[in-house]
Amino acid sequence: NCSCKVGPSLLACDMSDMANEAKRVVDAGADYLHLDVMDGHFVPNITFGAPVIKCLRRHTKAFFDCHMMVSKPEQWVQDIADAGGDQFTFHFESTENPEALIQQIKDAGMKVGVAVKPNTDIKLIDNIVDKCDTVLIMTVEPGFGGQSFMPDMMDKVEYLRSSKPEMDIGLDGGLGPKTIDVAAKAGANMIVAGSAVFNSDPREVIQIIRDSVEK
Ligand code: DX5
Ligand code: ZN
Repeated sequence: NCSCKVGPSLLACDMSDMANEAKRVVDAGADYLHLDVMDGHFVPNITFGAPVIKCLRRHTKAFFDCHMMVSKPEQWVQDIADAGGDQFTFHFESTENPEALIQQIKDAGMKVGVAVKPNTDIKLIDNIVDKCDTVLIMTVEPGFGGQSFMPDMMDKVEYLRSSKPEMDIGLDGGLGPKTIDVAAKAGANMIVAGSAVFNSDPREVIQIIRDSVEK
């Protein structure tokens, strides 16, 4: 079984105090940080980009998984790498040439994640999944925190897990103490949680998620 990795999404934190918020969840047991980059084009919301990530990098050594909800991911690979991103998670729907993008990300020295929106058939990534370090299955429509978890997406997790016993399979959206058991049972081991972590006691919530995935 893959080890559990819990990645709080800073989308739900006090963004005026991001460095301290990041420290707070790392101290509470987070395995990495999930950074939601949105461009107002691929998704109907704007958050932050490489300049903010670069500032945050000075305050923590945590692993940064940058979830790139942007229309032209190729345009931002070098900036994210230079800013200190450790992983570049692109959306399958955002690129014409996933193989070239994967290579570009690797050449920039980052790990590669591929994210799929709820309406995207998981079989479409069959040919590229072995070239990626992680898969991120969206359990909400990307764009906003605080939405309801979509349990129908567990079919995708089970499909992937059946042929990939060792792969890091992530879920993003609506995860927390109420939904983690369904996610864990399906075989997910990388758990992104925004509002559940920041709107409650981070240490307690991270522990509940970890216990569910590892049991
Ligand atoms: C949604 C983002 C998620 C989101 C998760 O577009 O990709 O990472 O912040 O937030 P919660 O856990 O509140 O659903
Ligand atoms: Zn995300």
